[in-house]
Amino acid sequence: MTLDRGPVPEQGWDKGPVPLSRKENGMFVYNKGYIVDSAILVAHYSGFPYVCKKKGDLNMTKVGILVGSLRKESFSKKIAENVAELFPEGYETEFVNIGDIPLYNQDFDDENNVPEEIATFRYKMKQIDAVLFVTPEYNRSIPAVLKNAVDAGSRPKSESVWNGKPAAIISQSPGNLSGFGANHHLRQSLVSLNMPVLQQPEAYLANSAALLDENGIISNEGTIQFLQLFVDAFVALMEKYKG
Ligand SMILES: Cc1cc2nc3c(=O)[nH]c(=O)nc-3n(C[C@H](O)[C@H](O)[C@H](O)COP(=O)(O)O)c2cc1C
Repeated sequence: MTLDRGPVPEQGWDKGPVPLSRKENGMFVYNKGYIVDSAILVAHYSGFPYVCKKKGDLNMTKVGILVGSLRKESFSKKIAENVAELFPEGYETEFVNIGDIPLYNQDFDDENNVPEEIATFRYKMKQIDAVLFVTPEYNRSIPAVLKNAVDAGSRPKSESVWNGKPAAIISQSPGNLSGFGANHHLRQSLVSLNMPVLQQPEAYLANSAALLDENGIISNEGTIQFLQLFVDAFVALMEKYKG
């Protein structure tokens, strides 16, 4: 693994430890480090923490996938897994867990006492270039767990993890409603968070249970074609906003 030295990590990452002792290119010796995900690790070099990224991943566009349901057999999650397969080369998808984010309380930031799970979530999202939301509808809106993640990532306002990142939304429902209300409530928040949201095609999946076979695979050709069109349009949006 070739490592680049990056900026000092944000609060909340100095934990572990995973013992590491390696020399790379004759330059760095890590005494201990913390593997954050497959692409990033936080290491200590001469007592100072550094964020290190795998070199090969630097040119990849990272798409974070946030699922608005924590249910084990979630249709949203299964749909998201199918959609993740449709991204082209150069795009890396990563499911970001939102289930352990504490209920957001503004005091966390006002009193500089941000829970570790929120700091971790913010840090992860900072590494992400764009966001795909796949969500059911709860009572004509988005599930609280997803709104909580949106809120937790939005503060401190000047450091919002969402700012300027392209986004796309798929809503689903096992019934006929297809999550239209959730889709548009989420859009309303994303506008305020300055996320350019994919406009067309809109993705409202009705009768979602029937779309998935017993292995959680979507096999209906028309649906696959539509989802590919959706991903292609999202990719075009991401390309447009690349810095
Ligand atoms: C609290 C709650 C509220 C719900 N409200 C709606 C709703 O407004 N519209 C709808 O189409 N389905 C509604 N449903 C049904 C969900 O669409 C269904 O449970 C779906 O499977 C949830 O998505 P998941 O499979 O990804 O967990 C609701 C379910 C729950 C638990």
